[in-house]
Amino acid sequence: MKILVSDNLSLAGVEILKKESGFEVDVKTGMSKEELIAVIPQYDGLLVRSATKVTADVIEAATNLKVVGRAGIGVDNIDVAAAGKKGIIVMNAPDGNVITTGEHAMALMLSMSRNIPQANQSVKGKEWAPKKFMGVELYEKTLGIVGLGRIGTVVAERAKGFHMKIIVYDPYISKEHAEKVGVETVELKELLARSDYISLHTPGLPGKPLLGKEEFDSMKTGVRIVNCARGTLIDEEALVEAVSSGKVAQAALDVYSKEPVSPDSPLLGVAEIICTPHLGASTEEAQEKVALAICDQVLDYLKNGNVRNAVNVPSIDAETLKQIQPYLRLGQDLGSFLSQVSEGAAKKIAINYNGEVASANVEPITISVLKGFLSRSIDGINMVNAPFIAKERGVEILETKSSEAHEYTSTLQVKVTTDKGTHSLTGSIFGKGDSRVVRVNDFHFEAVLSKNMLVLNNMDVPGVIGNLGNTLGKNNINIAGFHLGRLKEKAEAMAILNIDSPPSDQTLEELRKTANILNVHSVTL
Ligand code: NAD
Ligand code: MLT
Repeated sequence: MKILVSDNLSLAGVEILKKESGFEVDVKTGMSKEELIAVIPQYDGLLVRSATKVTADVIEAATNLKVVGRAGIGVDNIDVAAAGKKGIIVMNAPDGNVITTGEHAMALMLSMSRNIPQANQSVKGKEWAPKKFMGVELYEKTLGIVGLGRIGTVVAERAKGFHMKIIVYDPYISKEHAEKVGVETVELKELLARSDYISLHTPGLPGKPLLGKEEFDSMKTGVRIVNCARGTLIDEEALVEAVSSGKVAQAALDVYSKEPVSPDSPLLGVAEIICTPHLGASTEEAQEKVALAICDQVLDYLKNGNVRNAVNVPSIDAETLKQIQPYLRLGQDLGSFLSQVSEGAAKKIAINYNGEVASANVEPITISVLKGFLSRSIDGINMVNAPFIAKERGVEILETKSSEAHEYTSTLQVKVTTDKGTHSLTGSIFGKGDSRVVRVNDFHFEAVLSKNMLVLNNMDVPGVIGNLGNTLGKNNINIAGFHLGRLKEKAEAMAILNIDSPPSDQTLEELRKTANILNVHSVTL
């Protein structure tokens, strides 16, 4: 078997691979996309960090590839869906660089507050100008952490040691988790208004950047910002403006919307913005930990077929997999759908199996539901870690089975209780694996689950559907399917639309302002 290591991985990991008999290892870093496409057909395994872009055309060319191992957390440099479609497993090493990255965020916070990079440059330039570098203390300042996952938690714990007051915005964590870490949870708006420091620790998020002009305007004057998560979370132009105007006193960035950051980027011309070149995970300890973990996982898979920390496949034996395959997909889609239409931190997820499916081994289906539900908010969720993460977040999982069938041979009902309410979704498999939503809360449907959907509540009065169609048409969104559910005439109704492309934030806003449309959610599967 041949393994290609195409990014700088710690030697300790590469040594494990080299020692393994029957395995040949090539380390070739800095290849262009064309070079990678030319050599990839030879390899059974590919090991990367974040520099190699494993795009759909690389996957397409990878005729022997069985596994891609990411020495780190984010898999945004890998086309996971393309790999999955080709049966290539994508694995990450989610734990090894968490402490290191949290420490880097603290280092940036301190460097920025005491002007350490600028002062160092001044002294090395033979200048002695202490008055130029007056700093500020972290002591008793308010730190707003956006995303209390693995790294956000490390930052919170360390910042407490500096006697900072910590407030957190993370709509997906439970109160219990926040209480355990000892932080106050707030809405984003409040966090922006109250924080002296803001540190971002979410995955890269779809849609517009988390921090743009509007958000900078709503912050305290003199706020300091740290980003060690993903560059796309910040509108960089708006940041430069906010720093230049003095609204934001300083910023410290480790990640950029485009990497490597362009030498012409305006970020580089602002003294109050300090920059590191995506160094968050770059410590000897973390690189050794992630390299050892990913090399061990990839070997275990290629030698023994054991799947650990896979982000795109369930760990199930072939026979069970065949039996429950359509329900795995359905479960994941229902979980993902629910996470996009429900609000608040999940406290309980109840999954009811009815009819024939109840006699199968449903555990992997339950895990698929959790994976779908958590994947919208957490990077690197897979079939192995989904139940642990749900538990860690204080989400109670309830599984019930009944062989009794009602209208359909089998149904899968997922009910989520959050701190803001309860939402339930029931799905079924039609024909040879066609997943449908048959019930949303009290509304009945037989709606196809497609990649892009709009889910809305409206008043059942004339004109609503026409207005809806007009707005979508005007915004060039084609409707592929339309499903309506209502309980009684002229009361609240619900619609699920299959659309050919996702709506922009602006289209959603327009729809929300339309008369008799009560709420609208965009659902992407
Ligand atoms: P994680 O999945 O453990 O935590 C992410 C947290 O963000 C979760 O608690 C989730 O609930 C929360 N979240 C999701 N969407 C949110 C939203 N819209 N608003 C607020 N919170 C939201 O991830 P992690 O391991 O802590 O990693 C965090 C980030 O750091 C990821 O983007 C990862 O890729 C990045 N990272 C960067 C480096 C680096 O070198 N700079 C190293 C490691 C990780
Ligand atoms: C990650 O997501 O793990 C990081 O961005 C760190 C890296 O591998 O450089």
